[in-house]
Amino acid sequence: MKVSEIRATFFDYFKKKGHEIQPSASMVVKNDPTLMFTNAGMNQFKDYFLGNTNPKIKRIANSQKCLRVSGKHNDLEEVGVDTYHHTMFEMLGNWSFGDYFKKEAIDWAWELLTKVYKLDKSRLYVTVFAGDKLDGTKEDSEAIYFWSKHVKKDEIIKCSKKDNFWEMGDVGPCGPCSEIHMDIRTDAERSKVKGRDLVNKDHPQVIEIWNLVFMEYLRMSDRSLIPLPEKHVDTGMGLERLAVALQGKKSNYDIDLFQTLIKRIEELSRIKYGASKKTDIALRIVSDHVRAISFSIADGQLPSNTGAGYVIRRILRRAVRYGYQVLEIKEPFMYNIATTLVEQMGEAYPELTNQKTLIEKVIKEEEKSFFRTLEQGIKKINLIINSYKEKKQKKMSSLHVFELNDTYGFPIDLTSLIAKENNIDVDIDGFQKLLEEQKQRSRKASEIETSDWMVIYDQKETQFVGYDNTRAETKILRYRKVNTPKKNYFQLVLEKTPFYPEGGGQIGDTGFLEIENEKIKIFNTKKENELILHYASSLPNNLSKKAIAIVDKKKRKKIAANHSATHLLHYALRKVLGDHVEQKGSLVNDKYLRFDFSHFSKMKEEELQ
Ligand code: SER
Repeated sequence: MKVSEIRATFFDYFKKKGHEIQPSASMVVKNDPTLMFTNAGMNQFKDYFLGNTNPKIKRIANSQKCLRVSGKHNDLEEVGVDTYHHTMFEMLGNWSFGDYFKKEAIDWAWELLTKVYKLDKSRLYVTVFAGDKLDGTKEDSEAIYFWSKHVKKDEIIKCSKKDNFWEMGDVGPCGPCSEIHMDIRTDAERSKVKGRDLVNKDHPQVIEIWNLVFMEYLRMSDRSLIPLPEKHVDTGMGLERLAVALQGKKSNYDIDLFQTLIKRIEELSRIKYGASKKTDIALRIVSDHVRAISFSIADGQLPSNTGAGYVIRRILRRAVRYGYQVLEIKEPFMYNIATTLVEQMGEAYPELTNQKTLIEKVIKEEEKSFFRTLEQGIKKINLIINSYKEKKQKKMSSLHVFELNDTYGFPIDLTSLIAKENNIDVDIDGFQKLLEEQKQRSRKASEIETSDWMVIYDQKETQFVGYDNTRAETKILRYRKVNTPKKNYFQLVLEKTPFYPEGGGQIGDTGFLEIENEKIKIFNTKKENELILHYASSLPNNLSKKAIAIVDKKKRKKIAANHSATHLLHYALRKVLGDHVEQKGSLVNDKYLRFDFSHFSKMKEEELQ
């Protein structure tokens, strides 16, 4: 089965079980400040789990583009070095929102794997949650009961919280899980060591393929657990890993999807996959990273110097560095591989085909600029090395190594290599220490602590009246405190609000909340999924009283005018330059607007006019 057939079979199976098949959500997360990228299929459904919104459909199945390169789920360092982790991967999932629970999730997973995909039962292992003293959670006896209908009871493996309790982040919806692992070793190897002894032991050929999460708790900021109002199912199966099992391969990189990409890199580098351990790692890294980068660009996240854009830039540079150093490709090459990727995955993900030109151009530009950085770094390192030679010193100080890395973006392994060629050692330990100190500094600077919600009125949804009003009678439904190194403030949720949250580049409204005789300043408004959060520096004395929410009208008018101007500008650009002009990003505030778009050549003076 090709990857595309495996995906289609999954959809087909769950469609028959009453699920609606939905397209993947964007991999780039726009309205959840706690996440930069989708790292699990459940992200887009967070509001359903929290009970903030009622799901219209109770059963959904999809294949979600996920990226695990930051935050709680970060696999970047493993990628390419092993054969079964990825930065970007596809996660097949079936969902129940307050509908079916453990029995169906387990029965269906087993039926699909063994009857439809026809995987060999003797190679599958299942795990269940063993309970946790600290959390006060018990062994998942229900899961054991339902699994024992399919596998021998004493074959079921009990695992601790580390492996079998799934949490999206430090706080939020979570629950015990039950995983299915697959042993793809040869029969000879299997007769020597039992597969069940290798489950969850980082063995490259005894790997987790499917995780069934039974979402039933909410993790609070004091680490306690409270039950969710309803119970849900969230399952996630790695499509690439399933393909390994179904295609009888030994590594994710052997499946059709990756082999096409690796062939293209082989052509460009003239190095064959299998030639050496070192070059294999590089080939895997490049083929993995080109997917992550291309999909991010297609979803609207271009490489940049901050936030999510910086994560993408770093992934791209990691790939280019391996290409440059290990595969010895000394000119831009990644954009060529992106072309192959689009041809291959464009059918399943039309956004790739639609944005093909943009993806290639952006990657090529990034590569060019990184090559310039490398050139500058090489000049600098030569200067440093000469000065050491003059002074007859044999060891490069950690400060120099750090400067090359931090200021010139010059990779540490390249510094070591060049220094070694000149018989100079580098102080790696000292460098690591400096790097760690820098990391600590930036961690401190970005630490945010959010308290749990204090509920005043137990009502979930806010009524938004901001299209027609800049004033509304309301009350505070709940609030929470946020501490950051720079300042502390409160986020308020209102029953009714005329405040526009930040979104689509437009800044959030500011204004006041009047309660009795007090006037509380609202200095920003943002959205967290479906919640509208009003930012206030202080709280009113009388939290439960009637309030009036008043938007700064003058400022709103200016923002609205700039927003309208954005649409006019967009229209004009399409008229003058052509229909390919699409909004790639924008900023609208009360002072000016910015509109990002891509065009294939520099704009002419008369076009600008
Ligand atoms: N949320 C779970 C995971 O990411 C199952 O989808 O593994």
